[in-house]
Amino acid sequence: MKHIGKGTNIETLRNISNLFQTTSLGVDELLAMVMNTAKDIVGVKNGSLLLVQDEKTCKLQFYQASGKNMGQLKDIDLPPGVGISGHVVKTGKPIISNDVSTDPRWFQGVSEKMHVPVQSMASFPLLIDKKVVGVVQFLDKVDGTTFNDKNVEVLEQFAHLMAKFFQVSQNRNLLNAEFGKLKEQYLHRYTIVGESKAIQKCIKMAEKVADSKAAILLTGESGTGKELFAHLIHDRGNRQDKPFISVSCGALPASILERELFGHEKGAFTGADSQKIGLFEAADKGTLFLDELGEMPLDMQVKLLRVIQEESFIRLGGTETIKVDVRLITATNRDLDKEVRERNFRQDLFYRVNVIKIILPPLREKLEDISDLLTYFLKKHKPENQPIKKPGKGLVSHLMSYSWPGNIRELENSVERAIVLTDEEELLPEAFPFEISQAPIELNVGSSLKDASDSFRRTFISNTLKSTEGNRTKAAQILDVQRSYLSRLIKELGIK
Ligand SMILES: Nc1ncnc2c1ncn2[C@@H]1O[C@H](COP(=O)(O)OP(=O)(O)OP(=O)(O)O)[C@@H](O)[C@H]1O
Ligand SMILES: [Mg+2]
Repeated sequence: MKHIGKGTNIETLRNISNLFQTTSLGVDELLAMVMNTAKDIVGVKNGSLLLVQDEKTCKLQFYQASGKNMGQLKDIDLPPGVGISGHVVKTGKPIISNDVSTDPRWFQGVSEKMHVPVQSMASFPLLIDKKVVGVVQFLDKVDGTTFNDKNVEVLEQFAHLMAKFFQVSQNRNLLNAEFGKLKEQYLHRYTIVGESKAIQKCIKMAEKVADSKAAILLTGESGTGKELFAHLIHDRGNRQDKPFISVSCGALPASILERELFGHEKGAFTGADSQKIGLFEAADKGTLFLDELGEMPLDMQVKLLRVIQEESFIRLGGTETIKVDVRLITATNRDLDKEVRERNFRQDLFYRVNVIKIILPPLREKLEDISDLLTYFLKKHKPENQPIKKPGKGLVSHLMSYSWPGNIRELENSVERAIVLTDEEELLPEAFPFEISQAPIELNVGSSLKDASDSFRRTFISNTLKSTEGNRTKAAQILDVQRSYLSRLIKELGIK
């Protein structure tokens, strides 16, 4: 137990106030210290702190006590309104009693439990925003005298101080809870779920190369987790404390992309009112993630190649060469080899960005991960103040029989949607989009051949349409049927 050295009262108060600003002590230690200091200054034999356990009933419980009897006191609950402390809670006012034996409010039980006869007692409320959160009590003076006005004044000041500490701790607890929530969200953001060999191979590879500066190319179908892996690599590597800057090459026209990447000087073009640093500069010492690299226009590809080769560039409209140390991660869902063959992508740039290639598997090739992913998404998308929903009977095998053309993103979105649509505790296949909830019918012995084949055609056609982003002409080509026939099937099978 800490005590602040005796010395003068002013000095003691100054010490306490310093501690208040800088301390890393826990609130319990602080409260004990303040109570003991008050005790020492006034010359009191014992002190105790009781806290209101339940705001509604105002039931009190001992929280701290000086001396050796805390063990017994912990078991005592003071019923609401009982004892002197109960009255302090009720009224919010101090009670100074110089002969407790004659005070009708005195609760004998406590004194008996402590085996300490009590003569006088000074009790003060701990007030936060006018609400009583506890009571601090001082019992008997060492010199046998009663509490005088001066003593009461000093002890009351200490009670205020304890209330302040208590408030800070409550705020700190709230902050900690908030922080915990944020941390949870942050952790969820870059968690990669999956025990399948296919995904584990990718995770191992990502971890292995995280510390190096070698350029990484992430490929894989849409929704397979390329962006997630880019974050993982940055977070696990030695640049984790430096910036991670992400830009989508497909979303911006070439001229704007160029300004974004390299920045510009004032007056470099109409509207350039001030100097602006580009993303390469912003990512210095960190990671630059170029997403959808396959969409980058050819003339921008040349400029990018130059920066990678020279590790430096010049801002638009500038003359100064700026050196940067940037780790490059790129991603695409296009087949870059094919793009190179078809001359849509520069071969020299391809070699530069493709030093290490990580190919993320489509979900249909790691169906065994669906169960873990489902559990993870049920937790991630749990509505506030509701328990986590459980997978209903047969749901996992049902989801495993679907081909997931939109990969993990499609699974995540459909789980999120199903959670919203389901009032019950368990998620059933019916809560999933039509093509998913219908998926396994062809496996169920007992349905008619027509139902089974319709179900198959429905799933097959809607997956093909998904892969062409709804383009019926392209889908008809893939399916090798007339476009008009495809339209008729879509209508007949009720595909949305
Ligand atoms: N292994 C995984 N574990 C948990 N969540 C994942 C996993 N893979 C992907 N996700 C989640 O799936 C969604 C899609 O992932 P992400 O955006 O990284 O895919 P992408 O490959 O970049 O897709 P696109 O090519 O369409 O941009 C994200 O919400 C991501 O958090
Ligand atoms: Mg992406």
